[in-house]
Amino acid sequence: MASKLTPFAFRGTSWTLRQLQKTQWRSLSATAVRRSDTLMVHRNTDVNNPSIPFKFTAQNEELIKEILSRYPSQYKKAAVMPILDLGQRQHGFTSISVMNEVARLLEMPPMRVYEVATFYTMYNRTPVGRFHVQVCTTTPCMLRDSDAVTKACFDHLGIHYGQTTKDGIFTLTEVECLGACANAPMVQINDDYYEDLTYDTTVALLKALQYAAEATGAKPGEVGLAGEGGKGAVTGEDRNVKSGSEINEQGRQYNAGGVKVPTPGPLSGRKSCEPARGLTTLTGEPWGNETLRKDGAL
Ligand code: FES
Repeated sequence: MASKLTPFAFRGTSWTLRQLQKTQWRSLSATAVRRSDTLMVHRNTDVNNPSIPFKFTAQNEELIKEILSRYPSQYKKAAVMPILDLGQRQHGFTSISVMNEVARLLEMPPMRVYEVATFYTMYNRTPVGRFHVQVCTTTPCMLRDSDAVTKACFDHLGIHYGQTTKDGIFTLTEVECLGACANAPMVQINDDYYEDLTYDTTVALLKALQYAAEATGAKPGEVGLAGEGGKGAVTGEDRNVKSGSEINEQGRQYNAGGVKVPTPGPLSGRKSCEPARGLTTLTGEPWGNETLRKDGAL
């Protein structure tokens, strides 16, 4: 009997082996998990809990009216993003009270506002320093040595990503591509981009911002150099010259409380994103009608 069953047993075993070979095995990944610098859930703290009142200023209420006029009245919740941004600019960060107030204004369930604010990382749901330094470390910046920029921030500020300096002046965050890859490596500080950075230019920039923050004397929690009432705060005129007139051996600079701060943009001497080593094509005399016609007819 056993001898009669033996061929079937072998056949069964080889069929099982063939099936095992066909099975798709997925190897386990051992890559370290990269966690976000911020917590995606809300936890009540002394400075961020629903019992802290928040109201928009009269000036911002005017702006909100203008923003709402862009949308049909039955779709006013479409204005959630610009109004959250306005709340963040007024309050310094997007606290739970800011989100609740936006929900009340737009007649939306608060959860819908929380969903938006937790999805977009540009809404800071915890307090940030006066200068929010966001370092891009995505591939094009990484290939042009964003590691040096990171190291300069760590060395000079003495903090790591996700942390704020003790004096409340700087918060450091690691971010993905900010769309300025042609001028990599770069950082965004508040609303400004600083590009073509090296270790040295990053340290010089941070030092200038620190001196300017001390010189303008804004209180902790105020964002930027133009803190309301800060002595020597940067005026609108100062910010207008940012795009650049004063150029010296240190590059373009503007004045903040008597301190020269590098103008946002490339800190390498480039004006924009033109080739870093000068023109490599179209370098000869231009030709066309203007050189072919010498008779003055054109
Ligand atoms: S990768 Fe840094 S700006 Fe695009």
